[in-house]
Amino acid sequence: MKPVIFDVDTGIDDAMAMAYALNSPELEVLGFTTCFGNVPVVDSTRNTLAVLEKLNRRIPVYEGADQTLVRGRKKRYPKHVHGEDGLGNTLRFEPTIKASQGNAADFIIDQVQSRPHEITIIAVGPLTNIALAINKAPMIMSLVKEVVIMGGAVNVPGNVTPYAEANIISDPEAAHLVLTSGLPITLVGLDVTLQTYLLKPKLDDWRATGKESAEFLAEMTDYYMKAYENSHPGLGGCALHDPLAVGVAIDSSFVRTEWMSVKVVTEGEEAGRTIGQKDGEPRIRVCTNVESERFLKHFLERVI
Ligand code: BDR
Ligand code: CA
Repeated sequence: MKPVIFDVDTGIDDAMAMAYALNSPELEVLGFTTCFGNVPVVDSTRNTLAVLEKLNRRIPVYEGADQTLVRGRKKRYPKHVHGEDGLGNTLRFEPTIKASQGNAADFIIDQVQSRPHEITIIAVGPLTNIALAINKAPMIMSLVKEVVIMGGAVNVPGNVTPYAEANIISDPEAAHLVLTSGLPITLVGLDVTLQTYLLKPKLDDWRATGKESAEFLAEMTDYYMKAYENSHPGLGGCALHDPLAVGVAIDSSFVRTEWMSVKVVTEGEEAGRTIGQKDGEPRIRVCTNVESERFLKHFLERVI
């Protein structure tokens, strides 16, 4: 079992990724850390707790950043994609379980220091918590086993601007710091996540299980798919961004990677752009291809 810290900005595809990870015997999720992103951090924490409650799992949740690394940057909450509540307006209860005391970056530092070379971090929101952890305790960089990041668009256009993917543009300075830090990173960007589609009829299969958690996920994913219909007319489904990062953490053979250095544009029209170069340093693994069908089968066997 891989011990994992899972950094989220929960979010509909984050919720699917949580269920997939928690139903995967290869992963031991030590804790969730939350960040602003799809919603403000208090909502991201509440949503993470709500998903855990629906899944009937009790895993520590540590709240993290509600501000960009360089304070005062404009935040953009994509309500048209994830709804007012971040879960497609499906949240009709306040979770009874509570977040743990302490802060996300400190939890990351403590865990990595207490289990050197063992911890995998899966990050599917803005990279602020990891950047804060690096700034506070740079020595953790040599002690992390692996970091799998959903973010960026290296060889393809962005999904927020023609250049930028949502997680990266939400905090470009944090993303630049993390991606150029020397951490052992695998970058799961739009290059591959936009090749992994979940189509609408699968939601009927989820509902047919009769499980409350399946209905919860199906209802929010239905909202997400309607939003996708605007950006991808005729698709009849949605991309599995955050679930693919979990898939790669479980089995890296789902993707093909290329070694590149990746820097992030932080200012101007191209802010949030991830620029990959094959000859730069430090290099990270950038996913450039995915075996979509095999990944989708794996995801569907586990998510519900
Ligand atoms: C990423 O942005 C967020 O809206 C999703 O949860 C995912 O992490 C996709 O660009
Ligand atoms: Ca996310």
